Amino acid sequence: MASEEPRDLEQIVRDGLITLVFGFGYRAGILDSFIKTQQPCSAEELAKQAGMKVRYIEEWLSCLAAAGIVRVHDDDRFSLPYDEAKLRLQGHIAGVIPVLCDSIPELEKVIKTDGPRGNQFTLLDLGCGYGWNACRVGQLYPESSVIGVDMDQISIDRAMEEQKSRGVKNVQFICTVGGHLPSDWTDKFDFVVMKQVMHNAPSVDDIMKEVKRVLNPDGFAAAWDPPVSSYPNEQANNKHAQLCFPFSVFSCLPMSLSDLSGVGEGLGDGWGYQRKKEKIEEHGFRVVQCGDVDVNTVQERIVFKK
Ligand SMILES: C[S@@+](CC[C@H](N)C(=O)[O-])C[C@H]1O[C@@H](n2cnc3c(N)ncnc32)[C@H](O)[C@@H]1O
Repeated sequence: MASEEPRDLEQIVRDGLITLVFGFGYRAGILDSFIKTQQPCSAEELAKQAGMKVRYIEEWLSCLAAAGIVRVHDDDRFSLPYDEAKLRLQGHIAGVIPVLCDSIPELEKVIKTDGPRGNQFTLLDLGCGYGWNACRVGQLYPESSVIGVDMDQISIDRAMEEQKSRGVKNVQFICTVGGHLPSDWTDKFDFVVMKQVMHNAPSVDDIMKEVKRVLNPDGFAAAWDPPVSSYPNEQANNKHAQLCFPFSVFSCLPMSLSDLSGVGEGLGDGWGYQRKKEKIEEHGFRVVQCGDVDVNTVQERIVFKK
């Protein structure tokens, strides 16, 4: 087999470093400001447009000019010789590098033969119902440890039957209210999920307090509820709202009003996304965006951290 000349490793590493600087520029907004500025422009003009310190912009431009990405004109003026769509797409891709770097400390641990095995997480399915989701997660991730809780004993009995029939060993079901979880569960879970629970719950504040306590500091919580707005004028002629509200009238609202003390809040589907988000934030959680949809857009899922 003919031996191929290896690629220039030194150049590859230099290009990699420049990609990091380019990606940083995309994330910080320098690239966006550059695109919006009349080119060729000076470092001062770009710094002004970006609202950044001139010396940093000078150094960023020098970096990219050294790599041939930025073009240098007379009188120390600069331009970007690429069309906007290409710059934004490649900037977006390069911007992934710092995100990947965040995982390096964890990756250094798990790569070792005796390092942690993947998917050794703990998950709480709060309001697990018949246990389908908890059993599925347990089956998909046999190294994980999953606990499903529900306040309804009939649901827990069904969940246990489900678990037995599927032969899942790493899942446990407990009948308890989400607002009073075992005292030794503090910081226990990597994930807490609540599927179609929050808008049904009689005491959502108690649940949020307990989620805050049992979620570990690096953990994620996620809740799924019908994707409807909290404001009636945004629900008119909305097919999701039309589909969900009949169930709310007959099931979700009565359940949310069913607190033994008689002070159930009566959330139901009409509680909607915005008020759910406010409630989560009121309890000191930070809502995080997962995927492309902005966290302020009405949607089914909401993900949050301590
Ligand atoms: C619509 S069901 C969803 C069940 C399951 N998560 C699913 O997606 O199939 C809502 C469940 O939440 C439970 N639930 C509501 N409020 C609760 C609370 N405060 N504590 C525990 N379970 C609760 C109900 O008993 C019910 O089983």
